[in-house]
Amino acid sequence: MAHQVRAVVARGKGAPVSLETIVVPDPGPGEALVKIEACGVCHTDLHYREGGISADFPFLLGHEAAGVVEAVGEGVTDVAPGDFVILNWRAVCGQCRACLRGRPWYCFNTHNAKQKMTLTDGTELSPALGIGAFAEKTLVAAGQCTKVDPAASAAAAGLLGCGVMAGIGAAINTGNVGRGDSVAVIGCGGVGDAAVVGSNLAGAAKIIAVDIDDRKLATAKKLGATHTVNSSQTDPVAAIRDLTGGFGADVVIEAVGRPETYRQAFYARDLAGTVVLVGVPTPEMQLELPLLDVFGRGGALKSSWYGDCLPSRDFPMLIDLYLQGRLDLDAFVTETIALDEVEKAFERMHHGDVLRSVVVL
Ligand code: APR
Ligand code: ZN
Ligand code: ZN
Repeated sequence: MAHQVRAVVARGKGAPVSLETIVVPDPGPGEALVKIEACGVCHTDLHYREGGISADFPFLLGHEAAGVVEAVGEGVTDVAPGDFVILNWRAVCGQCRACLRGRPWYCFNTHNAKQKMTLTDGTELSPALGIGAFAEKTLVAAGQCTKVDPAASAAAAGLLGCGVMAGIGAAINTGNVGRGDSVAVIGCGGVGDAAVVGSNLAGAAKIIAVDIDDRKLATAKKLGATHTVNSSQTDPVAAIRDLTGGFGADVVIEAVGRPETYRQAFYARDLAGTVVLVGVPTPEMQLELPLLDVFGRGGALKSSWYGDCLPSRDFPMLIDLYLQGRLDLDAFVTETIALDEVEKAFERMHHGDVLRSVVVL
């Protein structure tokens, strides 16, 4: 039996999204049908709508979601109907070289549902990041569902499915921030703020937030930054060195994705420190650095891919911290909106006064 539900679809490049009726099949082998309870609006959804990620319109948008499993297909044992789950866009295989070498976040064989969701006229939909959760129900691979404590609010839990996990993971998984470390975070949008929160969780002694917008710095401070630097007024490299006894930060997390901020990150870290690039650059961006500085300053230059997370390890742990009051995920939910307000949320994104708009169903 197929299910007809309402969903947010991007029909063509740059066109406003529309609320449509879609057809979701019952789960086949290895698949799960999930009743969506909440889904955050991420920049990547907007990039899909603008045609910046692929040309496979129409897209079923939404990929930062939590909900309840309604049905599972043959062979599914890890989740069952009634489970409260967070969806992830990298269900790893466990068998490829990357998985076997202990780097599953670089798995080559991540999988999604095999069956297609369609419009009522039979047109196949491309689900954003293999999820498509701006919908009353969606079909995913069972491995894309991670069971977590149902006491968590769905709006908060869903955020771990993308941006907030990317930021927290950049600090705790990729940057390996440790107790007593000094950390600088360049760019304090949703991802950078989550890196501030992750650094705090990891026990960093100093967390320096850098942004060009004072409103962003005020939010970062509320979320645990110990110092703030407005880099449109002050040289951030000098400021970070001043705040760290002249040395530079142990870990610098770049959450903008631009050459100039990466360069700042490179020079703002202590000798032998770590730079984590979590901001996503565009294909034409280039960075030139004196090789002698790369050699002489030592340390590690890393990028963080989805916070280098393992959903089955990280989601339940972070939800437990949230329920204990030690991780404020609610602070990332600026507004909750209805399914037909996604286009408006895209407009608000440009104004920079929203950490996350979250569709609640
Ligand atoms: N220096 C410092 N901060 C800057 C600069 C700059 N030159 N340019 C922009 N910023 C700040 C913005 O003011 C904003 O607070 O960077 C922040 C970017 O935040 P968002 O646009 O909200 O983006 P976010 O969702 O946090 O994602 C950041 O991480 O995962 C990636 O694709 C994502 O590349 C994006 C980045
Ligand atoms: Zn996202
Ligand atoms: Zn694999």
